[in-house]
Amino acid sequence: MMNNKAYIQADELVKVFRLGTVEVQALRGLSMQVNKGEMVAIVGASGSGKTTLLNILGGITRATAGNTIVAGYDVTNANPTQLVALRREVVGHIFQELNLLSTLTAYENVELPMLAAKKDGGTRKRRTEELLEIVGLADRMHHKPDELSGGERQRVAIAAAIANDPMVLLCDEPTGDLDTETGAIIVEYLHKVNKEFGKTVIMVTHDPSIARQCDRIYRIRDGQIISVQSPTADQEMGAASRVDVVRERLQEIKEEIARLDEEAKKGGIDLGAFAARRVKLTDRQKLFEEEMHRLGL
Ligand SMILES: Nc1ncnc2c1ncn2[C@@H]1O[C@H](COP(=O)(O)OP(=O)(O)OP(=O)(O)O)[C@@H](O)[C@H]1O
Ligand SMILES: [Mg+2]
Repeated sequence: MMNNKAYIQADELVKVFRLGTVEVQALRGLSMQVNKGEMVAIVGASGSGKTTLLNILGGITRATAGNTIVAGYDVTNANPTQLVALRREVVGHIFQELNLLSTLTAYENVELPMLAAKKDGGTRKRRTEELLEIVGLADRMHHKPDELSGGERQRVAIAAAIANDPMVLLCDEPTGDLDTETGAIIVEYLHKVNKEFGKTVIMVTHDPSIARQCDRIYRIRDGQIISVQSPTADQEMGAASRVDVVRERLQEIKEEIARLDEEAKKGGIDLGAFAARRVKLTDRQKLFEEEMHRLGL
């Protein structure tokens, strides 16, 4: 355990694939950090190294050079037994394709990782039903993958990936083959896994609107991170300036009410006109106060 390190950390990762005499450099000194509880997106062109990075973080592929820490585990120096434990208990992995076994039902696919982890029958049954409930598929549990829609299959994949309660969820294009609406539903479930269950989520996506919903966006090009953006922080800044505008408007309304009251006291305004304007202004004040409330104040 290295407490001075980030929760998830890649240091100068290099990955070279050798096919005969041909060498492919999939990663060229890639470094990144992700904090606990974050949901981040990885974007980049096809072949830029996204899947390779996820597979190294998930302990499937060994880096040629560099270091990897995942949830405090030193993945780089883990032996094969430790890597199996990492994959079983620490990370959940949703792949770009082929997440489910076609001969098993949704129920059995979700139960499988718990069988591998030697959970007892009662726990498995309870947890499988709970997970299928969470992803909204309680009524599809006896369907096999080819009897489910693409979106439903990905929801089963999410349920299976979080079955052993991993701390980190790695998702490789989880909305890849889905239409926009179905993709949005999948992303909603991933946000739920992130926010409600506190899992750290790393998601590869090509969809900028999905990436923008994450805490940070890492852009990969040619096996390196070329930029890191914080869209939600930018949004918060936007909200902060909206708060200023609303607060200013609210102050103006209050001053206008005070002036009106002064005028009425001095008898410079007839009672009917006063009442009408007073009601209108207090309604407006209420509206802006509600808006302040919505903005979290
Ligand atoms: N097992 C492998 N053997 C040889 N080369 C590989 C292997 N896996 C990946 N590569 C190569 O490494 C590079 C990065 O591949 P990777 O799958 O990480 O890209 P990606 O960013 O996930 O692309 P996509 O968006 O198409 O999924 C590519 O040039 C690819 O051809
Ligand atoms: Mg890929």
